[in-house]
Amino acid sequence: MSQFCVIILAAGEGRRMKSKVPKVMHPVCGKPMVNHVVAAAKALAPKKIVVVVGDPRKQVRDVLEKGVAVAFQKEALGTADAVKSAVKEIPASVKDVVILYGDTPLIRKETVEALAAHHREADAACTVLTTYLVNPRGYGRILRDPSGQVIGIIEDKEATQAQRAVREVNTGMYVFSKADLLEGLGHVQPAKKTGEFYLTDVLGWLFQKDRKVDACVAEESDEVLGVNSQMEFLTATHVLQRRVLERHMEAGVVLMDATTIFIDPSAVIGEGTCVYPFAFIEKDVTIGRKCSIGPFCHLREGTVLEDGVRVGNYTEIKNSTLGKGTNMRHVSYLGDTSVGKGVNIGAGTVVANFDGKKKSRTVIGDKAFIGCDAVLIAPVVVGRDAVVGAGSVVTRHHNVADKSVVAGVPARPLKKTKNK
Ligand code: UD1
Ligand code: CA
Repeated sequence: MSQFCVIILAAGEGRRMKSKVPKVMHPVCGKPMVNHVVAAAKALAPKKIVVVVGDPRKQVRDVLEKGVAVAFQKEALGTADAVKSAVKEIPASVKDVVILYGDTPLIRKETVEALAAHHREADAACTVLTTYLVNPRGYGRILRDPSGQVIGIIEDKEATQAQRAVREVNTGMYVFSKADLLEGLGHVQPAKKTGEFYLTDVLGWLFQKDRKVDACVAEESDEVLGVNSQMEFLTATHVLQRRVLERHMEAGVVLMDATTIFIDPSAVIGEGTCVYPFAFIEKDVTIGRKCSIGPFCHLREGTVLEDGVRVGNYTEIKNSTLGKGTNMRHVSYLGDTSVGKGVNIGAGTVVANFDGKKKSRTVIGDKAFIGCDAVLIAPVVVGRDAVVGAGSVVTRHHNVADKSVVAGVPARPLKKTKNK
């Protein structure tokens, strides 16, 4: 079975977004819209993925996932024209071409797989993914004859009143046999009202020529949402975030009032962990089992919390590791810090990891006790079992020895060993 080539259209101007950032670059749950589509495309293990971009700035190419080819559409003359600009990238050995739109970030890999399987089964010239929407405004409508056979797609802008009443819509995802696609592209004429070259007209031409066009109906309509405006962008963020929350809840994570919690899709959370309202968990965060997170807690990139860690109200952690059973319950900041096991970080503790020029690391040993309102100026090491008194400022390079007690501003040793 020959592999697919996937073409993702991402060259539209996105004028309806009212933003200077190219539309498909807008991050939905932390990842540019187009890269969500690339991730779904990868499920087919295609021979090649080609993204059609229109923005001459490197900005767009730079955020694209590695391993995808890029084609350039000089002017946004429509979706058919966009596909044309990618034709030279289609490998000769490929029989079928999958076309996806870069502004549909909710598409799941299972759906792309189902569409591809449907196409191969039907042995069609083209298979289009459709769905039924309560409010189909803005989408191309699927036209069927009385027997239910698909006979065309009409764009919203070109549709008559009666056609606009149709609720089955074009999702913008198709599989074409390469030969039929290339032939059809040669026959697309500019649309009456907009002058654009519509990819959907290739289907119109295939119908005329009596080639087989089939439709595969997607069951979940929300995953085919096209993001054209800020409101649709918000909807996409909500749908994707909900999927992430559901995945964690199904895996045994307790989310207290999940609607106020934001979790990046890449975050890993262990079973039995409880996340309280208004927690913000960013990308590449790993949380162990039976931890307690929040409320009002900000875990940033590179945070690793081992099992049983408790981080509470108004805490922020960046690029740091907290060992098993460590507590940091209130109003504290840790950046670029390695914290051992069983440590207590008192309320108001701050690690000053940035000296105005560069960032440095801080190390806090197992079972150390950091008193309330302490400041640790990086780079510095607080030893195992050491105590830093409340309100102390531990200055850079003034490492605190294992089991010693320091206090004051700047912090000085009080006695040799911790009084146990
Ligand atoms: C398109 C479909 C419509 C479908 C809807 C689903 C066409 C003509 N219409 O409409 O039937 O219901 O998607 O979401 O295809 N693009 C380019 N170059 C261009 C124009 C667009 O690369 O010259 C890209 C855009 O970046 C976008 C995608 O193609 O990712 C779709 O374009 P858009 O203008 O959003 O099409 P819709 O009007 O939403
Ligand atoms: Ca769109």
